[in-house]
Order: sequence, then C-alpha cells, then structure tokens
Amino acid sequence: METDVVLRVNGVERPLRVDTRVTLLDALRDLLGLTGTKKGCDQGACGACTVHLDGRPVLACLTLAARCADAGITTIEGLGTAAEPHPVQEAFVRHDCLQCGFCTPGQIMSAVALLAEGRAGSDAEVRERMSGNLCRCGAHPRIVAAIRELAGARV
Ligand code: FES
Ligand code: FES
Repeated sequence: METDVVLRVNGVERPLRVDTRVTLLDALRDLLGLTGTKKGCDQGACGACTVHLDGRPVLACLTLAARCADAGITTIEGLGTAAEPHPVQEAFVRHDCLQCGFCTPGQIMSAVALLAEGRAGSDAEVRERMSGNLCRCGAHPRIVAAIRELAGARV
C-alpha cells in the first residue's frame, strides 16, 4: 500500500509517495538522494544509519518513513558543510577518527546527540552511549577522544 507523506529533512519539506513499508533510510537514500546516511547491516545492529528525529538519534533502518511526517529529520547533510563544518565534524578530523569513513556519519550524529544531552562526562560514559555505533576500522578510541574534547561545549 502507498501513502503520501511530507518529510521535513534538514529544514526542507519533501513531499513523497511511499510504500508504507519503506524505511526512513531507504527514503532518504533512494528517494531523496541523501546518501550521507549509510546502510550497513539494515537490521539495527551497526548504527551507520543514525539520523536525528526532533534531535533524538534514531536508526533510520528501523524507522518507517510514513511515521516521520510530524518530525524534524536531520541527516549528516544538514549538520555542516565543507566550508562550515559542525564542531563535531572538526573534532573527528582533528582526532583522525576515520579510515574507510563508512561508519562516520552515524558516529557523528550519535556524538552530536550525546553531547547535546550532556552525556560525555567520562570515557566510560561516552563508550557506553556510543556502543550502538560500530567501527570495523577500529577507530573507537579516537572517536571517544574527539567527543571528550567537546564535553561541556555547546555543539
Ligand atoms: Fe541501521 Fe545498521 S544500517 S543499524
Ligand atoms: Fe571504517 Fe569506521 S572508519 S568502519
């Protein structure tokens, strides 16, 4: 069954006709061309697809697009630009937090949310809060360091 939905993505209203079973991840990537959000496992296990719904981090592969009509959706494309990167993006570059970069958009979206919640008080707290975002390249220690550098800052 199909339905009409208007997704508000990065501040822009995007009207779509979607199958009611289409995930937010597939709608973002395949229908809206926002491929910054990555599809890793497609089953809620890796965090690569993390986006914000009204500021809260969610797994886009487990979220139905048709259920997102009333929410403000933020993807990595809405966070910063190459010319004006978000402070978390700058910290990830400073701390060399990526190798292949596939997990990076999801890591950054989760990091922004946890910093906004003030949950970066210790390395252990950051590791716990970031445990849903996997990095197969093993950049976790650098990611923790980048987030800890920003603890207490307004991001
Ligand atoms: Fe969504 Fe892995 S692609 S959690
Ligand atoms: Fe390659 Fe994280 S940088 S998976």
